[in-house]
Amino acid sequence: MKFSAVILAAGQGTRMKSSLPKVLHHIMGKPMACYALETTQAVTGTRPVMVIGHGADRVRQALGDRVDYVLQEPQLGTGHALSQAEELLAGQGDLVLVTYADMPLLTSATLGKLAEMADSHSDPVSMLTVSAAEPRGFGRILRDMDGRILGIVEEAQATPEQLQIHELNPGVYCFRAEWLWPALKRISLSPRGEYYLTDLVGMAVQEGYTIRSVSMEDPDEVIGINTRVHLAQAEALLRMRINTQWMLAGVSMIDPTQVYIEPEVSLGPDTILWPGTYLHGNTQIGAGCVIGPNTIIRNTRVGDHCKLLESVMEYAVLEDHVDMGPFCHLRKGAYLCKGVHMGNFGEVKNSTLGPGSKMGHFSYLGDTTLGPDVNIGAGTISCNYDGEHKFHTDIGEGAFIGSDTMLVAPVKIGAGAKTGAGAVATRDIPANSLAVGVPARVIKEIKK
Ligand code: UD1
Ligand code: CA
Repeated sequence: MKFSAVILAAGQGTRMKSSLPKVLHHIMGKPMACYALETTQAVTGTRPVMVIGHGADRVRQALGDRVDYVLQEPQLGTGHALSQAEELLAGQGDLVLVTYADMPLLTSATLGKLAEMADSHSDPVSMLTVSAAEPRGFGRILRDMDGRILGIVEEAQATPEQLQIHELNPGVYCFRAEWLWPALKRISLSPRGEYYLTDLVGMAVQEGYTIRSVSMEDPDEVIGINTRVHLAQAEALLRMRINTQWMLAGVSMIDPTQVYIEPEVSLGPDTILWPGTYLHGNTQIGAGCVIGPNTIIRNTRVGDHCKLLESVMEYAVLEDHVDMGPFCHLRKGAYLCKGVHMGNFGEVKNSTLGPGSKMGHFSYLGDTTLGPDVNIGAGTISCNYDGEHKFHTDIGEGAFIGSDTMLVAPVKIGAGAKTGAGAVATRDIPANSLAVGVPARVIKEIKK
């Protein structure tokens, strides 16, 4: 069977009290709508259709061409929302999976079970249900004496007895397309002036069909985000779900409640994360590393056996056995080869530190290339910017840069060269020579 998917996302989300459309609020580093987009895509193998309305332009802009859009204007309820997708989807698939953009914890495994259920029979409506102690505004599932689903009643319209029902409607369905599109046109206006998607359930029963349901185990999966309190709850749950997976995969966390790992991050076994570790975006961490406390790593690749203490890294690469911190900052284009040591207060931008090089204290290297085994003395600065342009500094293998050396770029320090403390290198320094002073001049050759 061929599946298509529709994600409802046109609602306003007034209770977020935000100028940002609700579905664009971030959870673990990305707009919450991305989760529905990814799970439906994983299950159907096709690009989902998103029904947008409030803040449509911003949603389009944020999500780009990862989904097809249809506009619902005005927003006349969930049934009306789904019917907007007919034009795009009629004739496109046999089964239509429907979910919400504000339910980021729903897994593709659960959606997959629903899809499988729908695929296994010919009834037109399959749906998820969940039993939860806290009904939280959900529609209630009505069943007959034999346990067959009869319909869904919205909380606002439920009788006191119906309000006692704890089997709830998460709002996730899978419909037979040929039944769905005409049926949507037969929904009548609710007392609230909306076309309720939930009415399809009662309609299918009336027509003699059986409603197929998959009852979910974990009510957390269907937490819908309506307020910033829900947003924080969902974030905490998702964070713990991710952390649990990594712990089971061999990563240690001293306190998992204080570790933040975004979904795209990967980690190797026997890595230990201390509290206050934040791993963002497309970050890859190798095996046997010790990271944190209080370390932020974004879009960075870290090799095996690195020790990174109280530091910040963005768009950088660290090979194996790098030892860094506390209080270092790697910025875009920093590349630390195997065995590099960076002590406290180092900043590196767009620079390569050759294997085994050391930069122990209070230094800045920008637009600089270091060969292997270079020693950068305390307080060294690559003066790479003259206020208009950036210039490059080159330091050869085994060079020894004395404390407080200013490297006025463009400048080359030859292999094995040394600078004296406080030198200001305005011109190239040949290999194996010692240069001192301001401006630095060569005073002798270094015998080897
Ligand atoms: C809906 C269900 C309810 C279910 C609950 C689960 C109906 C009538 N009720 O209620 O049984 O328990 O979800 O959360 O379907 N949307 C649109 N266009 C609209 C209205 C809504 O796109 O005109 C979207 C919203 O952006 C949201 C989703 O549909 O993503 C659900 O809408 P919402 O208003 O939150 O529905 P509920 O009243 O919670
Ligand atoms: Ca809702």
